[in-house]
Amino acid sequence: MFNKIYKDKKIIVTGNTGFKGSWLSLWLHSLGAHVTGISKDIPTQPSLFEELRLAKKTEHHFANICDGPRMKKIFVDTQPDFVFHLAAQPIVSVSYEDPIETFQTNTMGTANILEALRMLSNPCKAVIITSDKSYDNVEWIWGYREQDALGGKDPYSASKGAAEIVIKTYYHSYFKKPGSKVKLVSVRAGNVIGGGDWALNRIVPDCFRSWNEEQAVKIRNPNSTRPWQHVLEPLSGYLRAGQVLAESDEQINGEPFNIGPNADQNHTVLELLQSVNKFWKGATMKKPFEIEESKNFHEAGLLKLNCDKALYFLHWKPVLDFEATSRLTGEWYDYYYNHKKEDISVYTLSQILEYTEEARKKSIAWVI
Ligand SMILES: NC(=O)c1ccc[n+]([C@@H]2O[C@H](COP(=O)([O-])OP(=O)(O)OC[C@H]3O[C@@H](n4cnc5c(N)ncnc54)[C@H](O)[C@@H]3O)[C@@H](O)[C@H]2O)c1
Repeated sequence: MFNKIYKDKKIIVTGNTGFKGSWLSLWLHSLGAHVTGISKDIPTQPSLFEELRLAKKTEHHFANICDGPRMKKIFVDTQPDFVFHLAAQPIVSVSYEDPIETFQTNTMGTANILEALRMLSNPCKAVIITSDKSYDNVEWIWGYREQDALGGKDPYSASKGAAEIVIKTYYHSYFKKPGSKVKLVSVRAGNVIGGGDWALNRIVPDCFRSWNEEQAVKIRNPNSTRPWQHVLEPLSGYLRAGQVLAESDEQINGEPFNIGPNADQNHTVLELLQSVNKFWKGATMKKPFEIEESKNFHEAGLLKLNCDKALYFLHWKPVLDFEATSRLTGEWYDYYYNHKKEDISVYTLSQILEYTEEARKKSIAWVI
């Protein structure tokens, strides 16, 4: 898998205690990598990081990415072969409550990571995670391409759009030069679902929290359409981007990539919840949903990504359809809340294996 590029490599994962970071750390650990994590806290309770017992499998630093000198020290001490930068304040509603913290973390925190990369004396490939929300969302019907305008009407989106500008600046100023030790890409993915997310104000975690207490989940915008994708889809894209950065010379250095589901995989919030509910306790709940009045802040409408560039340069494409995405998600929570007997990492690894098998059937390049 990934041409064994991650075996025995030193890898920094920022945001390793979060939802995506925990899945990524487990996957990298299973590929034989030595993971060093950087996160300021354990953001949720329960926490996937704790449930997967990642503190035992990886090295971990509790550190704030806003602390530039600390980032430089960890990077210089570790001398990583690869960096996956995921740490962020990722919730739109929180960004309205605390825009400054959001800009500090998502924009200046990313600048600190880029500055720490600049201090390295060994070759390093970096995959910097931003978001599909970094585009100026003009609510058109077409998928956004990487050269479309950046923007953001809410502070979260703007902080990620601004991070993209900072990444491009660092590339042109430092990492484009011949002989640069650092090569990097940015990756823009969209709404991610999957087992083990317990973040507040996200629809899937809200569901399973409510359903576990035998309560209907309150839905704000049942007809909002999103390009839902399983967490393993962007992660295979991040890992593939790191592999291609390492194996090809300058071809993708400095490039942004969209990673998203096929264009026909957009579904409404209500369709998603109906679909994941099928896998919760055999779909026995009488009233799983309750539709609520919308809150008073701007939330973007339709946003689709065009992923032709990832297909062309990374030979990356999605593995799962909407049904499989919902099933893996629903089954994970059902197992965790209703059937778990021991370490959930065994079950989580079995989902990574199932995903890999599906990718193998589709002859997707990273499986080799
Ligand atoms: N989950 C999604 O649907 C989604 C969609 C698009 C993009 N993203 C991006 O993917 C990345 C990971 O998202 P997630 O869903 O796993 O988030 P999460 O909230 O589960 O985890 C965030 C992580 O960042 C860390 N963190 C936050 N502020 C920090 C700081 N100042 N210093 C150090 N660490 C800090 C937290 O401790 C945690 O480990 C983020 O960059 C996010 O913007 C997520």
